[in-house]
Amino acid sequence: MLQEIDYPISVQFDFESGTFDPVKVRTDRCVSDLALMFADKKVVQEIINNGDRLVYEIWYHPFETSKSDMALGVTRILPGKVGAEYHMTKGHIHERDDQPEIYFCIQGEGYLLLQTLDGDFRAERWTPGTISHIPPMWAHRVVNTGNKMLIFVASYHLSAGHDYQPIEEKGFKKLVVETDGKVAFIDNPHW
Ligand SMILES: [Fe+2]
Repeated sequence: MLQEIDYPISVQFDFESGTFDPVKVRTDRCVSDLALMFADKKVVQEIINNGDRLVYEIWYHPFETSKSDMALGVTRILPGKVGAEYHMTKGHIHERDDQPEIYFCIQGEGYLLLQTLDGDFRAERWTPGTISHIPPMWAHRVVNTGNKMLIFVASYHLSAGHDYQPIEEKGFKKLVVETDGKVAFIDNPHW
């Protein structure tokens, strides 16, 4: 017997703005939310002291049914840097180690960083239209290295869960920074 939550739902995505309607939840992440992630703590503190700054937004719709669940998320990362380091998402690994995810780059350019708990590291170059499969057991973060908004769509099971702790403790092996006007990957001294 179907319950009300078991019926199909559609939302409308706007390719220009990178938003969809209706949206259930919108979450803003500011520099203060990423204080543990950005490497240049002095610059982080200066930005917070000057009123903080938006780094990215997540527009989110959980589709829960009586049998299973699926989340739709759209993330919009503003262009910019904190010190030399490009704007990026916090990065997380799924609490469940059997849960993958699909990311679809709609607009902008950058990198998807992937890393296992053992330290295997990959960086996938992103341009509009890149679709990446994030296998289970890989932490993931998106970095906006371009000069306009980077927008991507994510789809995953809600039950996958988000674990930020491994990233808060050590981060990713590489920092993505601007050096002499170019994108560079440098070793993370805290790894
Ligand atoms: Fe994820």
